[in-house]
Formats: sequence, C-alpha cells, structure tokens
Amino acid sequence: MASFDAVTLRLADAGDADILARMSRDLIEAGLGWRYRADRVRRLIARRDTVVLVACAGLGGVAGFAVMQFDDEHAHLLLLAVQPSHRRQGLGRRMMRWLLQTARVAGMVSVHLELRATNLPALQFYRALGFAQTLVLAGYYEQREAAIRMMCLLRSPDARLPSDDWLLRAQRRP
Ligand SMILES: CC(C)(COP(=O)(O)OP(=O)(O)OC[C@H]1O[C@@H](n2cnc3c(N)ncnc32)[C@H](O)[C@@H]1OP(=O)(O)O)[C@@H](O)C(=O)NCCC(=O)NCCS
Repeated sequence: MASFDAVTLRLADAGDADILARMSRDLIEAGLGWRYRADRVRRLIARRDTVVLVACAGLGGVAGFAVMQFDDEHAHLLLLAVQPSHRRQGLGRRMMRWLLQTARVAGMVSVHLELRATNLPALQFYRALGFAQTLVLAGYYEQREAAIRMMCLLRSPDARLPSDDWLLRAQRRP
C-alpha cells in the first residue's frame, strides 16, 4: 500500500491531461458517456478561473486529482478522484482541504458539487468534510441517473471581506 507521506500535491500542466481524462472516465464517469476527455481537461488546465490539482505518488504516478472552478463568489467542484490503491488514507480529504482553503482565501461564499445519487462512499466523504445535501436532481446524468447536489458554506454572504484600505491601515499600526 502506498505511503501517504510520499504523495505530494501540485498544480496540473498540459502534460497531465491524458491521464486525468482517463481517470475521470474510469473512476468518475464509469457507465456514463465520457465527457471529460483529454482536450476538455487540457482546456480546464489552461483556464485562469480553474484549479486542477494533482496528487503525485512516487515515480510521478498520479494518485488522485481534483478540478475546481471559481466565479465571483462561488466555487464548483467539477471532478475529484483518488486511485483505488490510495483510498482511505486521507488523500481525498487532503486535496479537498487544500481546495477549500484556497476558496476561502479567494473570498468564496460557498463551494458546490454534484455526485451520482448511487455514490454512497462519496456522499459519506463529502458529509465528513462538512458538505450538506441541498437537492436531488432527477435525470441529471444523461437523463437516466439522478445527482445529489451538495454545498459547503465558507462565510456568510453578508460578511464583508477586509478591504485593501483596512489591510493597509492594519499594516501601518505599530
Ligand atoms: C470519494 C473519494 C474521492 C474519497 O477519497 P479517499 O482518499 O479515499 O478519502 P479519505 O481517505 O480522505 O476519506 C476521508 C473521510 O471520508 C469518509 N469516507 C471516505 N471514503 C469512504 C467510504 N468508502 N465509505 C464511507 N466513508 C468514506 C470517511 O469519513 C473518511 O475518514 P476515515 O477514513 O478517517 O474514516 C474516493 O473514494 C474516490 O475517488 N471515489 C471515486 C470517484 C468519486 O466518487 N469521486 C467523487 C464524486 S465526483
């Protein structure tokens, strides 16, 4: 079994697109049409509003990956998978914590995601991370499989972030 300590996180580059697309096909989209093919993943990697995170095991093997997209106030987790050989070692949680912290620092109000309604391990995983179920969307996947939508609130929508002025004043204080 692979050691957790040997796994490092980094941002993806275009050279990762093929393996990430295959992982999406086999670990996330299995039994559905393959939507996240290499071209699409490559475009996501190039987008400035999208973070594609790769968990690398020894010898450069990809142990897991995640894709999160950001708008002005909300982040959307598009994909997340951990190789079966690396599951239940905290790697999914580690990638999600990194992404949630990134979303918090970027000022996001909330993080949203959908998962297949039959995917009970993932449902438990997201619940353990503080996500709550908001909706069941019938036929979300190719008109034949339902999705569960979940969200994690990071801050109150009304809470004001410190402005640049506030930060400058705070830095000037003795
Ligand atoms: C869901 C997934 C990403 C979890 O990754 P992971 O690295 O195994 O998860 P972690 O080891 O970080 O688990 C963190 C916690 O989540 C919960 N959890 C994770 N897998 C679980 C399972 N199979 N059953 C029940 N709870 C689970 C547990 O509370 C776990 O903590 P614990 O191990 O201390 O009990 C992984 O199972 C996976 O890749 N599944 C296939 C793809 C997928 O379903 N992606 C998500 C939907 S897009």
